[in-house]
Amino acid sequence: MASRLELLLPWCRLRFPVSGTSQTRRALGRPRLSQVRLSSTEAAAQRAPGREEADSKVGTRKKTFSEVQAERLEQAQRTVLINCPAKISEKKFLTYLSHHGKINSHYFYESYGTYAVVEFSEKDSIASLQDVTRTPGIEEECAVPFKSRLFTLTLKNPSTQAAHQAPVHCHKQSTILINDLVQKLCSADSVSNQLYTLMDEYQLTEENTKLRFLVCSLIQDIACAYFPECTVKPFGSSVNTFGKLGCDLDMFLDLDEIGRSPTRAKTGPFYMEYQMKRVPSERIASQRILSVIGDCIDNFGAGCVGVQKILNARCPLVRFSHQPAGFQCDLTTNNRVAMRSSELLYIYGSLDSRVRALVFSVRCWARVHGITSTIPGPWITNFSLTIMALFFLQKRTPPIIPTLDQLKDLADAEDKHIIEGYDCTFASNLNKIKPTENTETLDVLLSDFFEYFGNFAFNKNSINIRKGKEQNKPEPSPLYIQNPFERALNISKNVQEKQLDRFVALARECAWILQQEDKGHSSLSNSQPWGLAALLLPSVASNCVKGKKKRGQASERIKSLLDSLKINNSESLVNNGGKRTFSNQTQ
Ligand code: GTP
Ligand code: MG
Repeated sequence: MASRLELLLPWCRLRFPVSGTSQTRRALGRPRLSQVRLSSTEAAAQRAPGREEADSKVGTRKKTFSEVQAERLEQAQRTVLINCPAKISEKKFLTYLSHHGKINSHYFYESYGTYAVVEFSEKDSIASLQDVTRTPGIEEECAVPFKSRLFTLTLKNPSTQAAHQAPVHCHKQSTILINDLVQKLCSADSVSNQLYTLMDEYQLTEENTKLRFLVCSLIQDIACAYFPECTVKPFGSSVNTFGKLGCDLDMFLDLDEIGRSPTRAKTGPFYMEYQMKRVPSERIASQRILSVIGDCIDNFGAGCVGVQKILNARCPLVRFSHQPAGFQCDLTTNNRVAMRSSELLYIYGSLDSRVRALVFSVRCWARVHGITSTIPGPWITNFSLTIMALFFLQKRTPPIIPTLDQLKDLADAEDKHIIEGYDCTFASNLNKIKPTENTETLDVLLSDFFEYFGNFAFNKNSINIRKGKEQNKPEPSPLYIQNPFERALNISKNVQEKQLDRFVALARECAWILQQEDKGHSSLSNSQPWGLAALLLPSVASNCVKGKKKRGQASERIKSLLDSLKINNSESLVNNGGKRTFSNQTQ
């Protein structure tokens, strides 16, 4: 039976041999068949929304991570989630809700039913809506009367009210199928635009981001029953600019405000302090808090299913699915370093549109080939892969992003953060960071990413984004990526040799495919997916397995290609500590 991919091949764009030297490729990217040929940078600017969006922000003041978080958390507190019939008059729905106050925005989406996310202009509107909301009259079961901001709206006369009603327009909350993605990528006109297209399809939408903050706010309502001053904040890929539709929601129960000393002046001859339970360590305190909040989520949290308390993990957590939102949630507490890592990644992701485009593509590539997995194990994690991509971008000439030490040098007094004894200081103000002068296209960056890691001396070197330099490995883990803040730790300690070998073999294969295409010598026929699309095909991985014995040959092929590029294009190959790399000055 023909695979879906084979069926869609006729739609895939024909592949063209490319003229021009590798040097021009470095400056302009790799033009593809199109009626009007565009360089990849022009094409990216014209076609890729990710790029447009990023570029339109040039000249405007960029918000800090904390500003974005505070704004969105406040917005989430004025927002409700309503399960409603798919066929409903949007106008009547909004008129009905407007009786409780002005509505700032709303949208519908599907997840085990149709849901509406409605943001009021004032928080008071929610109390007004709750006043007219009844508790469900269930005949055989009993409802736990915990009043939240998750509602169900039903029609009084479904047969007449929905009869001639079209379903409401729903916003997408998940990524397209990989075969559909491959098809879309084939109609881009350069590899650069393929990367931007992928990012545009995969990245979290504004609506989905709002939903993530809303879920945090709903969990905060539960935790507030015990800790009225707590906040629940998202971290990880939901907010670090690298989140893909459908990724998990990492949440941080922040109890820090509770520990703070009162700001009111202490007068009189006495001190007052709370009597509190004492426990032997912060870890035990976290476990106890999460255990209780986990039970509350399980027992009272509408929409929260499959609650698991994973309290013996290195970082204790409560995991559950938020069914109406359609994603998995991990709630942790006492996890400020991870919050800071998220801010660091947010900064890197916001500096240059190529950063996110490259990371999204590499993450997608790794996922389709089983290099990463949703199940914890000996695999490279998305977090590690992201750090590897950032390291690669720091190593370009000129660098595309600064090192962590350089960001630390730009820090103000208010950026100083020492968390659990770890120095997590770096500049939060994006506007202070000088844009890079590097103009390389994503065509080049993608190909060189695979080339770089296909030949990286993993046996002796570690990856360190603080210094932006390889360093000797302090211990013999197959993959050593220094934790940016807890510097004595390796974030990829879990990765086994076999998994790293697969990554290296696939990286080499992909570097080879892109280099072949670049020379117009592709072994693939003209009707097949090209560029990034070709790298996502299962055949790439099977070629690696088949060609394990061929690995020497593949390296030979890469070497001879590099040699021919050296001769043909007068592009200097420099020997960098025994490793072969291109000098990548653009024209
Ligand atoms: P996806 O969930 O796979 O989309 O990516 P993610 O970045 O959210 O990863 P994950 O959910 O596994 O982890 C959430 C956050 O925890 C990351 O963004 C990091 O800030 C932090 N984190 C994850 N793994 C590690 C690790 O091994 N070491 C450290 N220090 N932090 C980690
Ligand atoms: Mg995550």
